[in-house]
Amino acid sequence: MTGIYPGSFDPITLGHMDIIKRSSKTVDRLIVGVLNNQGKTPMFTAEERVAMIREAVKDMPNVEVRSFEGLLVDFARSMGASIIVRGLRAITDFEYELQMSQTNRIMNKDVDTIFFTTSLEYSYLSSSVVKEVAMFDGDLTQFVPPFVIEKVRAKLKK
Ligand code: COA
Repeated sequence: MTGIYPGSFDPITLGHMDIIKRSSKTVDRLIVGVLNNQGKTPMFTAEERVAMIREAVKDMPNVEVRSFEGLLVDFARSMGASIIVRGLRAITDFEYELQMSQTNRIMNKDVDTIFFTTSLEYSYLSSSVVKEVAMFDGDLTQFVPPFVIEKVRAKLKK
């Protein structure tokens, strides 16, 4: 069974890593799908985000990283995936996630969404929080993998 864990990952956080680690144990192959959204101006390009995640998952043999554009269900179909993995951090995530999973299921009946509740220590975390803390030179060690800290700092120096 192939699963897809989609997101913006701008940048990848320890909260995302927690979901990747746990969900990769439940599927044969997990594809981390990095949304290349032309409408947004991310801190990192899709290529940079893919490279960072590849580095972060290099010891996980059944995890692949790819970027995608367009509809998630089309990407899932093209990868032969039947499962979409999403993390739920708090009740505030629920409504959006429910709408997304229902819509995806209407568009592609062969794909179902599985939710992992984010580990408690990461339930507050988001990529925006990471960028905001970084902007004010705060300590990022509890939020992102060590090599990502350097990448974020380097971006802010530009
Ligand atoms: N740990 C830490 N942060 C987490 C997290 C976790 N476990 N889970 C979510 N987040 C954060 C992200 O960092 C992100 O933070 P930010 O808003 O500060 O950047 C935020 O939650 C949103 O998360 P993300 O998982 O990246 O979702 P998204 O809303 O950016 O993208 C897609 C969701 C990619 C799945 C969705 O937009 C999509 O499928 N797009 C393709 C188009 C499509 O098919 N649309 C129809 C769907 S109805």
